Amino acid sequence: MFITLEGVDGAGKSSHLAWLEDWFKARGNRVRMTREPGGTPIGEKLRELVLHESMHPETEALIMFAARREHIEQVIRPALAAGEVVISDRFTDASFAYQCGGRGLPEARLAVLESWVHADLQPDVTLLFDLPTEIAARRLANARAPDRFEREQTDFHARVRAAYLRRAECYPQRIKVIDGSRSLEQVRMQLASELAAALESLA
Ligand code: TYD
Repeated sequence: MFITLEGVDGAGKSSHLAWLEDWFKARGNRVRMTREPGGTPIGEKLRELVLHESMHPETEALIMFAARREHIEQVIRPALAAGEVVISDRFTDASFAYQCGGRGLPEARLAVLESWVHADLQPDVTLLFDLPTEIAARRLANARAPDRFEREQTDFHARVRAAYLRRAECYPQRIKVIDGSRSLEQVRMQLASELAAALESLA
């Protein structure tokens, strides 16, 4: 099973990573936690570049997909083949949300990269942490040193959020919207019920 976590910066997905890992382990699954951009030695170098150096939006998109190519080859496919549950903190929905929604690249251009890099692989379930942009921004204001994306203005994050929600409407079977404004406990209850339903439908 391939699970991805998505959402605007500050929507709270990081607070649930360890909990998700434990949830699957408690069911007896072997779990592979990973992230994008990154997840491999080359991918982590590309992450450093793309989060901190300014560049053309198309360069940014190409780097995301270059890192993804390596990640799929080195980590995601081997782990899935070995029967592990793969949980990736972000994947291609983030490229559509940030590089198309946020930066304004045409979706058709990214669709070409998507079919080049992973025509035959999609997440089984995507947990989209959603939160009004102003609340996400307030949460981020207290966070550590912001990266290039976190430093963007509220309208950038509003476009990212809208792009994510549009994708959730297009792929309702795969993308489950999680209300990130609720308490940790409430969010975990929703996560557990979404995952139980997903496991049932995949069984
Ligand atoms: P994030 O996942 O939020 O990590 P952290 O919690 O450590 O800040 O940071 C990754 C950033 O990269 C995030 O702002 C979104 C951005 N990103 C893209 O713009 N496109 C992509 O395809 C991916 C995977 C991430």
